[in-house]
Amino acid sequence: MDDCLILGIESSCDETAAAVIKNGREVLSNVISSQIDIHTLYGGVVPEIASRKHIERINQVIRQALSDANVTLDDIDAIGVTYGPGLVGALLVGVAEAKAIAFAKNIPLVGVHHIEGHVSANYIQHPELEPPFMCEIISGGHTHLVIVKDYGEFEILGRTRDDAAGEAFDKVARAIGLGYPGGPKIEKKAKEGNPNAIEFPRAHVADAEYDFSFSGLKSAVLNYINKANMTGEAVNEADVAASFQQAVIDVLVDNAIRASKDYKIDKLALAGGVASNGTLRMAFEEACAKNNIKLYCPAPVLCTDNAAMIGAAAYYEFKKGNLAGWDLNAVPNLKLGEK
Ligand code: KG4
Ligand code: ZN
Repeated sequence: MDDCLILGIESSCDETAAAVIKNGREVLSNVISSQIDIHTLYGGVVPEIASRKHIERINQVIRQALSDANVTLDDIDAIGVTYGPGLVGALLVGVAEAKAIAFAKNIPLVGVHHIEGHVSANYIQHPELEPPFMCEIISGGHTHLVIVKDYGEFEILGRTRDDAAGEAFDKVARAIGLGYPGGPKIEKKAKEGNPNAIEFPRAHVADAEYDFSFSGLKSAVLNYINKANMTGEAVNEADVAASFQQAVIDVLVDNAIRASKDYKIDKLALAGGVASNGTLRMAFEEACAKNNIKLYCPAPVLCTDNAAMIGAAAYYEFKKGNLAGWDLNAVPNLKLGEK
């Protein structure tokens, strides 16, 4: 069979990205233009600015991805683009661009679910990995524990009731004055602190054993800081960062390992921006080794937003014949499992 080349396009948040993927697994190019520097000035992603930056950069990013892969649009078999979930204006830039190229060059178009993309980063990192497996998706907007039953098919076991894990990192980082982006800054600060210094809550949801809840933990951190400020006690930011991070990790590890054992699935994959956290990865490695579970985790650059993962997901949808029509639109609150 001939090789299948997918051009992946991602613009759901603050990364403008394009990649060329061969046969769903091999990265020929992976270009990411990050807007972090601009949004840092405002302490978080400003949707309006994100859209404007995507429109400024997307053509160059795609050109670069094609040239890095040493191919032209004539070599591309399908275009995969994130159409949700995400910021509507940001998504629209990628969707409109993908539709324009597909129309002009008569190339099949595939709409990709951003979360399915995150899961698919594992197919790139681990060419031998095939469904079924357990996957914990821990990003800025989502925290899901799922069984990947087949390519693009998910059984959702647990989800967050309130904040996503990455969102909690971002909010706590802001509260202790570390700024945006919160995850990497907390991880760095936590290295100087003691994870057992402060006893923050590990929330378990009573009636849904695999669900997550991080808003109580976030409030506990804010209360701790407010109380210290009122009584004039010094706050050790490194201890707060380390203790908070440990509380998040404990819950993420516990739910994933428990579900893997309950469902007798011995393959556990991680996905999403929070999975780039080194302390978290070590905790998962230890817990998986103890429980005879094989851990799969994409390299950090494939955990945070990128278009290689979108190209990988698009490949499997393309093979199933799931093509988008010319009416493909951005769906900002697209749910996992919805097409
Ligand atoms: O998957 P992602 O790039 O975008 C979404 O789809 O949401 O995830 C971004 C999230 C942000 O909340 C960011 O703070 C978090 O991932 N993150 C981290 C780390 N790097 C990024 N969280 C903890 N530790 C990190 N090293
Ligand atoms: Zn993402």
